[in-house]
Amino acid sequence: MSIKYSDQLIEEVSQRNDIIDIVSQYINLKKTGKNYKGLCPFHNEKTPSFVVSEDKQLFHCFGCGEAGNVINFVMKIENLDFFDSLELLAEKSGIDLSEYRNDGSNKEKVDRKSKLYKINREAALFFYQNLTKTKNVGIKYLLNRGLSVDVIKKFGLGYAINDWEKLNKYLLTMGYDQKLIYESGLVIKRKENEGYYDRFRNRVMFPIISTTKKIIGFGGRVLGDGVPKYLNSPESPIFNKGNILYGLNLARNEIGKEKKLIVVEGYTDVISLYQFGIKNAVATLGTSLTKNHAGLFKRYCEEVIIAYDSDLAGQAATIRGMDILDEVGCRVKVIKLNVKMDPDEYIRSFGTDAFRENVENAVPLIDYKIELIKNENDLNTNEGRISFINKSIKVIRSLKSPVEIDIYVERLSKEANIAPNVIKSEIYGNNRDKKNQYKYNKNNRKFNYKNNRYEKNLKPMKKLEKNGSIEIEKSIISLCLSSKTNYEKVTSQINSHDFLNEDSRSIFNTIGDIYKTSNKIDIISLLDQLDFEKVKLLKQIKERVVPFEDIDKIIKDLLISLKIFKLNEQIKIIKDEIRRLEVEKNKEEGDVEKIKELRGELLLLVKELSNLRVN
Ligand code: CTP
Ligand code: MN
Repeated sequence: MSIKYSDQLIEEVSQRNDIIDIVSQYINLKKTGKNYKGLCPFHNEKTPSFVVSEDKQLFHCFGCGEAGNVINFVMKIENLDFFDSLELLAEKSGIDLSEYRNDGSNKEKVDRKSKLYKINREAALFFYQNLTKTKNVGIKYLLNRGLSVDVIKKFGLGYAINDWEKLNKYLLTMGYDQKLIYESGLVIKRKENEGYYDRFRNRVMFPIISTTKKIIGFGGRVLGDGVPKYLNSPESPIFNKGNILYGLNLARNEIGKEKKLIVVEGYTDVISLYQFGIKNAVATLGTSLTKNHAGLFKRYCEEVIIAYDSDLAGQAATIRGMDILDEVGCRVKVIKLNVKMDPDEYIRSFGTDAFRENVENAVPLIDYKIELIKNENDLNTNEGRISFINKSIKVIRSLKSPVEIDIYVERLSKEANIAPNVIKSEIYGNNRDKKNQYKYNKNNRKFNYKNNRYEKNLKPMKKLEKNGSIEIEKSIISLCLSSKTNYEKVTSQINSHDFLNEDSRSIFNTIGDIYKTSNKIDIISLLDQLDFEKVKLLKQIKERVVPFEDIDKIIKDLLISLKIFKLNEQIKIIKDEIRRLEVEKNKEEGDVEKIKELRGELLLLVKELSNLRVN
C-alpha cells in the first residue's frame, strides 16, 4: 500500500522533523538523563515507559513494545499509512513532495490511487443518476422505506441497474483503464470467458465516503429479501473496512459540546437517525470494532454511545467493542432499547425524542456488564448470588477510583443482599488469600486497602484528568467543607472562576459566603441554600473521604490537576482547529497564517502544561 520515495527524501523529511518536537505535540515528555520519557499513547499506563531518544531519533515503549522513528510514530498515532504520514511530515517542514514524484514508479502508484478515487466518484455519480433521473425500482424501494429525498441526496445514495455490463461500459467510455476498473472492485472477472461484469446489479447503493470526502467503496443492498442482503466493495488499496466508519464524514461535525458519537450497526441506521435529526451516528461495516476504529473514535470524540441490536450476539459484540474503546480512553456507554428493533426501526416507530431519551439513559460500561451478569444468575438462590457477586467483583476491580468502587459495592450489596464489607474485603484482597492478594496488588497497587488507599487515591493526577474536572472539583470542595483553613489555602490560589462545572462553582461560592460570617460550615444551612441538582452533588461531595495528612501537598496536586485539565481542554480545541484547517482542501486566504498562529499558541500551552507536570 505504501508508495516508495527515494531513501534520500525519506531521510530528508525525517531529519527536518525532530522526533522530540513531533511526539511532544501529542504527549508530554520529560527529560530524564539522555532520553525523554512520557506516558505511552498506544496503551494505557500509569507510569511512563515510553522513551524517546533525541540522539537516535527513535521511540520505544517498554510497556507495549511499540517502536520506530518519527514517521512510524505519526503512522501509528494518526492512523495513517506510510505515504500519508510522510506527506504530513513533509508539509509540516515545508517540503513539497510533488516535486519528488518524478521517479516513474512512485508517480504511477500515486496516480493509481487517485484514479481509483476518481473511478469510484464516477460510479457514485452514475448510480445517483440512475436513481434520480430515470424511472427505476431503487428509488421506489428507498422512498417506500421512508427515506426522504434530502437524505438520499446527502448520503449520495444510488441505484445499480439490473444489467451485467452497464457500469463497466460506462467507465470504459469515460476513458478509464480496464485493469484499474477491475482493481476498484466495481467489476468482476469472468471465469469462463474473457471480460468483466458489474459486481453490483439491481441494488441500492451506499457510497462509503472517507473523512477527506473521497469515495473509497460501496455497499449495495438487495431490494427486498434476497441474499446476500449487502454486498460490499472488496478490500482495495483505498478501501479497508477495519479503518472506516460509515457516516463519519458527516458525523464528525456534529459531535456537539459533549463530544459524543453514537455507533450503530448498519448503513440504514446511520441514515435514518440523520433524517430524524440525530446526526452524530456512525457505523462499522458489518465488522466488529477494531483497534483502528477505536483510534478514529478517540480522534474525533470523547464519548461513544453504542446502539447495537439487542440480540445476544449483539450484546457480546457490544462488550468486545466497549473494551477496545475503553482502552484508548473514550468514555463508553450502551443504549438498551426496550424492544427488539434496530435504531432505524426504533426511531421510525417512536420518533426522535424517544431515541434521544435512550441516548440520555445510556448506561456506562460497568453498569451494562453488571446487568448482563445479573441476567445470567438467579439471585433467588445462594449459588446465583455468589456467582453474581464473584463475577461482578472482577468487573468492578477494573475501576480506577475507590469512590467509584464504593458506589458499586453499595449497589451490589443491595442487589445480592450481602454486606458491603464482605464484598469490599473480596475486592481489596483483604481475605487472607496471600496468592490472590499479591496478584491483585501487582496490578492495582494504588487501591490496596492495606496500603492506605485513601491517601493514595488523592495523588494520581493522571487519573483525575481522565475523570474530568468534576471529580477534581468535588475533591477540592470536600476539602473546603472540612475546614476554613483549607478553604483559605484554596482561595489563596484559585477563585470560583477556575471551576469548570457550574454547580460546583456555585457550591464553592455558597461555602465562601458562609465562611464570611462563620468559622464552620453548618451543613443544614448550606443545604438550605442549594437547589435540587446541587444537593445531589453536595451529597456526593460529602461522601468523599477527607484525608488528614499532607493536606498542603494534596491541595496543590488538586489545583494543578484542575489547571492541567483546563489546559488540555484548550489544547484539544486548538488541535481540532488546526486539523480542520489542515484538511480543508480549499484553503482561504489567511488560513496558512492562522495555522501558524495556532501552532504558536499550541506550543505555549504545551510548554505551560509540561511545566505544570514537572512541578
Ligand atoms: N452487512 C454486510 N453484509 C451482509 C449483511 C450485513 O456487510 N450480508 C453489514 C452492513 O454494513 C449492514 C450491517 O452489516 O449495514 C448491519 O446489518 P443489518 O442489521 O442486517 O442491516 P441493516 O443496516 O439493518 O439493513 P436493513 O435495515 O436494510 O435491513
Ligand atoms: Mn435495519
